[in-house]
Amino acid sequence: MTTSEESTATRRTVLCRAALAALGLTAAACGGGGASDEGSSAPTTDKPVELGDAEAVPVGGAKLYADKKMLVAQPKKGDFKAFSAVCTHQGALLDQVEGEVAVCPRHGSRFQADTGEVAKGPATKALPSVPVKVQKGKLIAG
Ligand code: FES
Repeated sequence: MTTSEESTATRRTVLCRAALAALGLTAAACGGGGASDEGSSAPTTDKPVELGDAEAVPVGGAKLYADKKMLVAQPKKGDFKAFSAVCTHQGALLDQVEGEVAVCPRHGSRFQADTGEVAKGPATKALPSVPVKVQKGKLIAG
């Protein structure tokens, strides 16, 4: 690696870490390599976060937790799935749920809330999943 390449990589790493810190995420997504913006917003949290009452998530639907940048679906009663609510296209925060689909306001990508898969582009990558469990009636993600 040349000095110029090292400088670019270091600057990219610093910018990535700063961006992730602003999102409250870890630097796990700051690996080198990938030339695409897609997938650069993996939702690994530093530590588990409580999202509130599990029953706030409708059965057969989903709920967005904008402040935590999380999307939680409950396809069947007691079966919760959580994903990053950061669009894999260019990083906008998903802002609404329509039935079982979460929608990005920036360019209209739609994601299946129960799988994170792309239902409509321009995004091409699924939302990264996040572990989720219920403890004493509260959803714990991460
Ligand atoms: S940032 Fe979400 S569709 Fe472009």
